[in-house]
Amino acid sequence: MKLNLEQNMKLKLISMLALAGLLSAGMSTSSQLGPDASTWSDYLSWYKVTPQAETGDPTGFLGNVHDGRNAFRQIYVNSLGAGVNQGTQGLPYPEGTILVKESFNNETALEARRSPDLTLMVDLASGQSPETGDWEYVMGADGARCGTGDSGLGTFCRDCHLFAAAHDYNFINSAFYERNQ
Ligand code: HEC
Repeated sequence: MKLNLEQNMKLKLISMLALAGLLSAGMSTSSQLGPDASTWSDYLSWYKVTPQAETGDPTGFLGNVHDGRNAFRQIYVNSLGAGVNQGTQGLPYPEGTILVKESFNNETALEARRSPDLTLMVDLASGQSPETGDWEYVMGADGARCGTGDSGLGTFCRDCHLFAAAHDYNFINSAFYERNQ
C-alpha cells in the first residue's frame, strides 16, 4: 500500500503522540460495549495468526505503538473470526470476533512468556460504534480501558487501523502473509 503525503504526515503525528506517552497516559475511554474479559481469558487456545512472533515493523505502519519495533508480538483470533482471518470466509468479520495481540518487550520475555501487554479488538453489532468501524478497541487483559465512539482511546487506535480499512481494520491475516511470501 502506498501512502500519500497527507497520510504519511498523519502517521508521523500519530507516532509522535505515541512517543509522547499519550497511549498510556490519561486518554479518555468509553464504557464497555462488547463482552467482558472472561470472554478472552482462554485466548491462548485460539487460532494463532502469527506462525512466529512478529518483530520489527512488517506492515510499515507500526510507528512507536504496540511496544515498538523491538517488541515481539503474537496475534490470536477466536473461532468466530478465524475463517475471515484465514481467508476461507469473506469480509467483514462477524459480530463477536475478538483479535488479541500480545506484545513482549524482547525475545527473552517472549520465551519466558513474561508479562505481555495485551491489546484487543472486539467486533460489535453493526451501528454500535460507527466511528470506530463497529470495533471496540481494548487495552489490558482486564478490559478496563475501552475505546469506542469518539473517545480518545477509540480515535487513537482507529486512526491508525484505518490504514487497514480494506480488510475491516485488521492488519495481520493470511492475505498479509500471502502478499509477503
Ligand atoms: C500507529 C499505528 C497503530 C496504532 C495507533 C494502533 N495500532 Fe494496533 N496494530 C498496528 C499494526 C501495524 C498492527 C499489525 C501487527 C504488528 O505489526 O505487530 C496492529 C495490530 C493490532 C492487533 C492485531 C490485529 C491486527 O490488526 O493485525 C490488535 C488487536 C491491535 N492492533 C489493537 C490495537 C489497539 C487496542 C490500539 C489502541 C490502543 C491500537 N491497536 C493502536 C498499528 C497500530
